[in-house]
Amino acid sequence: MAEDLHIVQGASREQQYAALYPQIVALAQGEPDFIANVSNAMAALKEAFGFFWVGCYFVKNNTLVLGPFQGPVACTRIRLGKGVCGTSWAEKRTLIVPDVDQFPGHIACSSLSKSEIVVPILNANNEVIGVLDVDSEHLNHFSEVDAVYLNKIVELIASWI
Ligand code: SME
Repeated sequence: MAEDLHIVQGASREQQYAALYPQIVALAQGEPDFIANVSNAMAALKEAFGFFWVGCYFVKNNTLVLGPFQGPVACTRIRLGKGVCGTSWAEKRTLIVPDVDQFPGHIACSSLSKSEIVVPILNANNEVIGVLDVDSEHLNHFSEVDAVYLNKIVELIASWI
């Protein structure tokens, strides 16, 4: 497909995700490289929603290591159980944090980030191989709608490995 996105203006976030998802699928069509596909997926999310930070961390040597992302520079390594990302990894579940200042141990890569959602990326054996982290400079910016669609997107990411 052409390397440009069709962004649905004025639509609900659910409609925007519904329009974006097949475009992320199409962007990866015929491209076998994992990093290339994850990079475009992160760019698509950033471009469609203008989120402050969108990126993946992948488990390497039992640590989350920064992967493809869009946004300001970020911390490169997060240990199991640390911060929102390390907690999502340890608990193997999606975490929606409406106010990062209220999350004990939150890792502030940027003081501008106010709320976030982290979704674990699972392989076929149900092991966490990474996380998708989306940050906003607004409080309470994420809901169950984000959780549903970002979970679909991480399934796609897992399928690209
Ligand atoms: N806030 C995350 C760290 C990653 S950055 O926000 C990009 C956390 O607490 O795990």
